Amino acid sequence: MRKVTIKASADVALVKYWGKKDEKLRLPENGSLSMKLEGIETTTTVEFREGLAKDDVKIDGEFKNNEVRRVIKHLDRVRDLARFNLKAKVVSVNNFPKATGLSSSGSGFAALTMAASRAAGLDLDEKDLSILARLGSGSACRCVCGGFVEWLNGDSSKTSYAKTILSKKHWDIRDVVVVVESKRKSVSSTEGHNYSGTSLLYKERQKRIEKKIKKVKLAIREKEFGKLGKLVEAEALEFHSVLLTSDPPLLAWYPGTVQVMHEVLKMREEGVEAYFTISTGFNVHVLTLPIFEERVKKRIKRLALVEDVLLAKVGGKPEEIEKHLY
Ligand code: DP6
Repeated sequence: MRKVTIKASADVALVKYWGKKDEKLRLPENGSLSMKLEGIETTTTVEFREGLAKDDVKIDGEFKNNEVRRVIKHLDRVRDLARFNLKAKVVSVNNFPKATGLSSSGSGFAALTMAASRAAGLDLDEKDLSILARLGSGSACRCVCGGFVEWLNGDSSKTSYAKTILSKKHWDIRDVVVVVESKRKSVSSTEGHNYSGTSLLYKERQKRIEKKIKKVKLAIREKEFGKLGKLVEAEALEFHSVLLTSDPPLLAWYPGTVQVMHEVLKMREEGVEAYFTISTGFNVHVLTLPIFEERVKKRIKRLALVEDVLLAKVGGKPEEIEKHLY
């Protein structure tokens, strides 16, 4: 059987997916919007082989952990579709710290879904890939797409998938990705979703979220960076207010996270167009325009609590590459 390697970029959620109406099928409580990130990527090689007694999975050099178990479950889904029982060898590497709020499960399960389905001889279109990827990790359903992406809030597995709303060519936005810590977060997003409904603020958020999605889509379509940035930053703060008021409370921020947020506000006062957003981790995305990228990078890099700064631009769809990982 064919050995396949896929490189998939992560995404940054502009309107966040938080809460699931079906945990097993990973049907979200609300639709979400994101931007793919060229430069922040997972590469995965998959081959199904005769004679393997069990799946042989290596992620960033590790053979045994929860992620490996999740990958094996996903391989089972692919085997069910392909109707065979061959075990697989899987090697996957991230070029950014995983499980730190930078959507490694999104790019990881997007790369795995595409590599495994192709290696199994399946020919899935973007919609079916998105549905299959969603079963591995919700945000992965967006990462099989490119550019600016919307995850439709369907009520069933068949209607809950993502699509590209505008390609990466539409608008050149930059994301200065700030690593304040590279060790994994203590509560995974998968666990956190379960607490969403315990926050008093969650119902109110859900009432308004469709309107917010429409506004963010319009700002993207009309390339209004100031409008987009304001909406995205306010969305991040609203989302973290939900996390903070959940039971148990989820305080994702580290001191370095707050230091970066203050620096972004300060830069804005000085006329630099930059806005932050944060997912369930402590690392920060700073969205900006190409003319400000270098300045933002320099300013953030000199902060005492910052470990590393990675540069990303709007990314495309996952790609099959020739260079295998084994
Ligand atoms: C805050 O997709 O990681 O980043 O479906 O359980 O794998 P699972 O969760 P995951 O949740 C992402 C949550 C978020 C928001 C977002 O990416 O939209």
